[in-house]
Amino acid sequence: KESPAMKFQRRHMDPGGPSNNSNYCNQMMRRRNMTEGRCKPVNTFIHKPLADVQAICLQGNTPCKHGQPNCHKSSSRMKITDCRETNGSQYPNCDYRNSHKERHIIVACAGNPYVPVHFDASV
Ligand code: A3P
Repeated sequence: KESPAMKFQRRHMDPGGPSNNSNYCNQMMRRRNMTEGRCKPVNTFIHKPLADVQAICLQGNTPCKHGQPNCHKSSSRMKITDCRETNGSQYPNCDYRNSHKERHIIVACAGNPYVPVHFDASV
């Protein structure tokens, strides 16, 4: 079964990306199985090595959006792509807008080893 850590990597890690391509989100959301059963409305891909993202769990502790205590904010900005479903998107033809940014990111960490399991926000 897929662990929470592996699920985070599937949903959020793309260290080699983004491909210079207006279809980035449409392709990635499908390839990473976020368009099965429904279109996941919003999802962020992180373009940094996994080790740099795992290291965020040792960086500044901050409350998560929903009040849980286990979020951490990256000390540096990271290249990310936000994928947001368009108004016209209709399952099973999930359609997304790409938004490339460079931001501090906030992830929730859990487990032993203590690793990212949820993408909370970018600031
Ligand atoms: P599910 O994967 O069971 O839906 P995301 O896709 O937003 O990164 O979320 C990944 C999973 O982390 C979601 O569960 C979500 O419910 C869970 N999650 C949200 N906040 C969390 C937190 N503070 N600590 C641990 N898990 C959290």
